[in-house]
Amino acid sequence: MTIMSLNQDSRIYVAGHRGLVGSAIWRELQREGFTNLIGRTRQEVDLLDATAVRNFYAATRPEFVFIAAAKVGGILANSNHPATFLHENLQIQSNLIHGAYQAGVRKLLFLGSSCIYPRLASMPLKEEYLLTGPLEPTNEWYAVAKIAGIKLCQAYRRQYGCDFISAMPTNMYGPNDNYDLQNSHVLPALIRKFHEAKQAGAATVTCWGSGAPLREFLYADDLGRACVFLMRHYSEEQFINVGCGSELSIRELAETVRRVVGFAGEIVWDTSKPDGMPRKLMDSSRLFALGWRPQVDLETGLRRVYADFLARQPGGK
Ligand SMILES: NC(=O)c1ccc[n+]([C@@H]2O[C@H](COP(=O)([O-])OP(=O)(O)OC[C@H]3O[C@@H](n4cnc5c(N)ncnc54)[C@H](OP(=O)(O)O)[C@@H]3O)[C@@H](O)[C@H]2O)c1
Repeated sequence: MTIMSLNQDSRIYVAGHRGLVGSAIWRELQREGFTNLIGRTRQEVDLLDATAVRNFYAATRPEFVFIAAAKVGGILANSNHPATFLHENLQIQSNLIHGAYQAGVRKLLFLGSSCIYPRLASMPLKEEYLLTGPLEPTNEWYAVAKIAGIKLCQAYRRQYGCDFISAMPTNMYGPNDNYDLQNSHVLPALIRKFHEAKQAGAATVTCWGSGAPLREFLYADDLGRACVFLMRHYSEEQFINVGCGSELSIRELAETVRRVVGFAGEIVWDTSKPDGMPRKLMDSSRLFALGWRPQVDLETGLRRVYADFLARQPGGK
């Protein structure tokens, strides 16, 4: 393991700096006093355009790169747009990783997700389970692109000696999330549902499934801290999981969201709807062994997210 010398004035590019993960990395870098941060909107640099990416690297010469730009979406979006998910993710990461090699970037962190693991892998998910079985078909397009991203980092490390690493975060939640009920993740969807039920004075909120599945959630700022920590302290070909190491049931999650939002009614579980996987937990022991730990518990994180949600409502409520 090498300790990479990130200096306060190092030129650091965060690709996707306005997204959920990218904005968390950006906030953490600001908190730590880095003064030379580089971020570009899609309008300024379209990462699907290899020439635009090459020109951007040549003009800004970043020394460190975080890749938090991706085409992201839920099961529905994945199954309706398989070509878009595969093509755009392959293109964005290839342009950024190959461009970083050409531009002599000193270190790069690529972000994937837990969907890279086989559908029937045992829990908790260990890094070595990659490519040991078939993927979950509902998001395999996205997963295949992410696996290619990991392999790109490993290949550039082997062939050119580039210090390119990859991290696989668990489910994340935080400010700047997507609260659209059609294509959001479970946690922001619950916040919106309970909030709207409270506003309407509804007696019940109906949630999908039995509430029994177990899931792990990491607060955005903890992921931001983990990414900066890995940029400083991790330099291996093997990608590394980033989770909080504990899980809770969807039922417990819904109860906590209800409490935080202040909805007084009942929760009804619609068991005719699918539960999804019974359990999804990352094994983050490699990361914990390096000395990193999450700091924000679920209730505290949810209170911050609900405040962010309220601030986005028309009139701030
Ligand atoms: N959210 C999670 O729970 C979670 C968990 C594990 C891993 N991750 C990983 O973290 C990464 C980021 O996810 P996220 O949730 O932060 O997604 P997000 O909120 O949708 O952010 C993605 C970012 O990528 C940018 N982007 C996409 N296509 C682009 C293009 N062609 N040119 C320039 N910018 C482009 C978007 O810019 P615009 O805003 O302009 O579209 C946006 O800022 C993904 O690799 C994902 O797999 C996320």
